[in-house]
Parts: sequence; structure tokens; C-alpha cells
Amino acid sequence: MKSIELLYRGVEKLKNGGITSPLCESELILSHILEKQDENLFIKPLEVNSAMENAFNNLINLRLNKQPLAYLIGYQYFYGRKFFVYPGVFIPRYDSEILVLAVLNYLKRDQDINTRYNALEWGIGTGALMITLILEYPQINFVGVDINPQACQVAEKNAKYHGLVNTIPIFQVDGFKYCELVKPGSIDILVSNPPYIKNSLWGGLPPEVQKEPIVALLGGEQGIEVSLKILESYYDKISINGRVFLETDNAGLLIEKAIRLNYQPENTYTDLSGQERVVVFKKEEGY
Ligand SMILES: C[S@@+](CC[C@H](N)C(=O)[O-])C[C@H]1O[C@@H](n2cnc3c(N)ncnc32)[C@H](O)[C@@H]1O
Repeated sequence: MKSIELLYRGVEKLKNGGITSPLCESELILSHILEKQDENLFIKPLEVNSAMENAFNNLINLRLNKQPLAYLIGYQYFYGRKFFVYPGVFIPRYDSEILVLAVLNYLKRDQDINTRYNALEWGIGTGALMITLILEYPQINFVGVDINPQACQVAEKNAKYHGLVNTIPIFQVDGFKYCELVKPGSIDILVSNPPYIKNSLWGGLPPEVQKEPIVALLGGEQGIEVSLKILESYYDKISINGRVFLETDNAGLLIEKAIRLNYQPENTYTDLSGQERVVVFKKEEGY
């Protein structure tokens, strides 16, 4: 059978199973099986053997059972780069590119390109945010922590894939325990896309999302509890004029509570749907 025929069989099955981008997903699954760039599947259809056909059908069936595509093909693009993803690890979202843009915007305000910043990412997942930031702005010293051992493993792999061998300390640790080891005033930039979905919303999440780890998603009863705990526990560790960049879906409440913790809200960034998605807090002198 020719690859193009198999591709369209996949499209048909995915479409009937209610998958919203059947052509794109069938292409990605087939190119993963054939280990080819997807455009080649159209330009130069290949002969597919029965082992490949079975492997393809197997992944299509898993996708119909709402396994996330990134878990099936093993990667996700983020900020134009490829990042490996393991099942059991949070899949980077395009919304978080706004978090990257917010940090870069702040860093690039500084005209002195020799300024070095000490940064921490709380909850690295695949490492996509931290690795992207280092690649875009190499004068930043990052430490990354995550409680999930699989996340740390795949983040190490991604760092290596992007040529950052042994340059990023990655620790598998509870970020709140790690805090106790950090020197006061030593973090210039704290970045986090913490779990921030309200606990009560779990049952209504799409089945694909429910295949991702709960520890990566649920942020407490109001959804902002983990964010507030990060702000509170790291307050002394942030340098004067240091910044905290947090992704959220409840910027208003987060800002209101963070002010009570002595943080100054400096800026917010909206996502493509117009929702405030990132809040930047400043720790000012005198608090
Ligand atoms: C929403 S995911 C974000 C992952 C990654 N930063 C991204 O945006 O793709 C939140 C991450 O926080 C991690 N996490 C949850 N609780 C943690 C804790 N107490 N200490 C450290 N990491 C934690 C999860 O394992 C998960 O990888």
C-alpha cells in the first residue's frame, strides 16, 4: 500500500472519531511511523509494509481513545523548537509561549547585555520554557526543579538535544522543599507555569487532558493556591527588584492576594483569546 492511501484511511478514522484536525494528526502519526518529514508523504508517497501499517493503525486507535497526540509521537513543538515529551509529563502549551515572551521582554529591556541573571523555574515539565529562555537569552543562569522524576528525565534529554549539556542544573525535588536550600535574595527571576486549574473542574476537562499528570494541572480549590504558595515561600529568596513571572487563568484574584504578600504587580500579558495569562510581579525595596 502507498503511504498516501494509509494517510487518508487515518484521516477518515480520526474524522469519524471526532478528532478536530484529522489530516494534520494523521500526517504527524504517519510521518512518525515512517520516520519522515510529513511534507514528503505528499511529494513522494512511499510503499508501506504491513508492520508499518499495523503500527500506524495502533496509534490511530490510541488517538481515538483520546491519548494525547504528543504522547503518541513523542514530541511537541514549543516556540518553534522540538521538545520530547514522555507520557506522564505535562505537554507544553502554546499559551506558555506568552510566559517566554514576557520574560524576554523584561530581559531585553536591559541594554547591558553583560548583566547576568540568576533564575529558577519552578515546575519545569519537559524543560521547554527554561531551555527556550536559555537559547534565546544565554546570559541567564537557570536552575530547574520538578517534583516529577519523569519530567526531570525528559528535561535532561531535551537540554542535551538542544546542545545544553551539563549547563542547566535540574533537580527532582519538591519545589517547596528546594526553597529551604536557596540563599536569601539570590533569585533575580522566578518563572513558573504552576498547576492552576481549579480542583472542581477536573471531571469536566477533555479526556486528553485527563491523561496528563494531576500534579501538573490542579492548583487547589480556587486554582491559585500553588501560585500563592510559591510567592509566599520564595519571597525572601527573590532579590530586591527581582521579578516573578507566573502563568495563570485568574490574574485578578492572584494579583489581589499577591499584593497582600508584598509583591507589586508590574504587568500582565494576555493570550490570543484576550484572557490575562501571565502576571509579572516585582519585589521592591522597603518591604
Ligand atoms: C503546568 S506544568 C508546567 C510544566 C512546564 N513548565 C511547561 O509549561 O510545559 C506544572 C509542573 O509543575 C510540577 N510540579 C507540581 N508540583 C510541584 C512541586 N511541589 N514541586 C516541583 N514541581 C511541581 C509538575 O510536575 C509539572 O511538571
